[in-house]
Amino acid sequence: MLNPNRPLIEALTKFKEANPISFHVPGHKGGMLSGLPAELRTALKYDFTELEGLDDLHEPSGVIEEAQQKLSSLYCSDRSFFLVNGSTVGNLAMVYAACRAGETVIVQRNAHKSIFHAIELTGARPVFVSPVWDVPTMTAGGVTATQVGEALKAYPEAKAVILTYPTYYGIAGDELEETINLCHTYGVPVLVDEAHGAHFIVGEPFPRSALQMGADVVVHSAHKTLPAMTMASFLHVRSDFITIEKVARYLGMLQSSSPSYLLMASLDDARAYAESFNEEDKKHFAERRATFIKQLQLIQGLQIVETDDPLKLILRIEGYSGFDIQQRLEAEGIYGEIADPYQVLFVLPLLKVESTYPFDEIYEKMKTAVASLNGLDKKRSKVEAPALGEGLSCLAYTFEEAANMEVEWIPYEDSVGRVAAASIIPYPPGIPLLIAGEIVKDEHVQTLEKLLQMGAKFQGEIRINEKQIVVVMNRVEE
Ligand SMILES: Cc1ncc(COP(=O)(O)O)c(C=O)c1O
Repeated sequence: MLNPNRPLIEALTKFKEANPISFHVPGHKGGMLSGLPAELRTALKYDFTELEGLDDLHEPSGVIEEAQQKLSSLYCSDRSFFLVNGSTVGNLAMVYAACRAGETVIVQRNAHKSIFHAIELTGARPVFVSPVWDVPTMTAGGVTATQVGEALKAYPEAKAVILTYPTYYGIAGDELEETINLCHTYGVPVLVDEAHGAHFIVGEPFPRSALQMGADVVVHSAHKTLPAMTMASFLHVRSDFITIEKVARYLGMLQSSSPSYLLMASLDDARAYAESFNEEDKKHFAERRATFIKQLQLIQGLQIVETDDPLKLILRIEGYSGFDIQQRLEAEGIYGEIADPYQVLFVLPLLKVESTYPFDEIYEKMKTAVASLNGLDKKRSKVEAPALGEGLSCLAYTFEEAANMEVEWIPYEDSVGRVAAASIIPYPPGIPLLIAGEIVKDEHVQTLEKLLQMGAKFQGEIRINEKQIVVVMNRVEE
């Protein structure tokens, strides 16, 4: 559908309608040589490359420039960029733009792995701030302004504060603006991984975007909550500290020199979708959501937990883990976003007045799914909040140093005072208990014991049965 408000899509459509003959890449030649299913092959008719009139993401001066400018106007940034490799590449680029090897950055400890990778690649020295535990959602939340203030007092030389807002479960809290203002009084820029908040720009009832609160660089996985294709993402800059040129330079190095026009077109569409999301749409969304919640509340045993972001819903059933619930839902063809020991997370569709979603059918299926749990033994006993490490923590070795040292597996009971060679991330709470390069403390070992007793699941390097963790051979003086 042609729409002058979507310049890139309009250009692609015009180009395709002229029936161009391809002697250029990609090799599928407009889908003609592709063995993909017919629906996918149809989309390949639009899978062009940097041809006349279609601009170039890395040197934009035509329709991509126009599309990115529209994005920038919507989010009130100084400059916004299309990303074709997810928030992952945005996080890498923003950290590269902010710091160099050996420089200090203050980082929310429950950051996505792309932030950890960015720190490793840049060689920056991280100071980690532990998030607070959010009781209603039973998940790790954000960090407080007081915590960040303490970190800044201790490390005023920091080159950036790197935050995650909102969390995966939609916790936004109410301290971000204060935190950003505080960082700016120290002359420190704030980089926000807002992967889960691209839709916040539509306004209430959604929380505000970090950009509206003065963050310097903000990254959005448009594909997570707006109608964009997987990987399609945004990065926005509005800063007195970080230059647009630096961000552009790193994106130029980190992104493909052949960015997908399908992904970029879906970003043009997602931006137009958010931009046109009006008061009537918001009212419609709120009504459909409220009706759906009311329906779900009629299902015996099902508990609904709301979070700061109305696009997220948490589902629990007393006595059952999120994994049990997930299995039953999937048996009925309903796929949630994630399950954890306590619950299942749903990401709702950002519906407009004209869009439909089969909520009545979903309700019937959910009734069946929940009823099918009744025959099962209740497995989950008391829910207990896992202990979170408090305060600030630094690394004895950088990630790279730790990755290049000789290592050994030892019983974790004997690991106090040694340096972890790999990170261990228990779920819950989804916060790294140990980070590669960090000195193991007594409280780490005690928390690990507790988490194992609770039946937490682990990502990272741990031999649960042998009760061992991996540490570097060198010992450090504490
Ligand atoms: C908080 C957060 N940041 C960044 C990412 C990476 O986003 P993407 O998948 O768009 O690369 C994710 C992915 O789940 C995430 O949850």
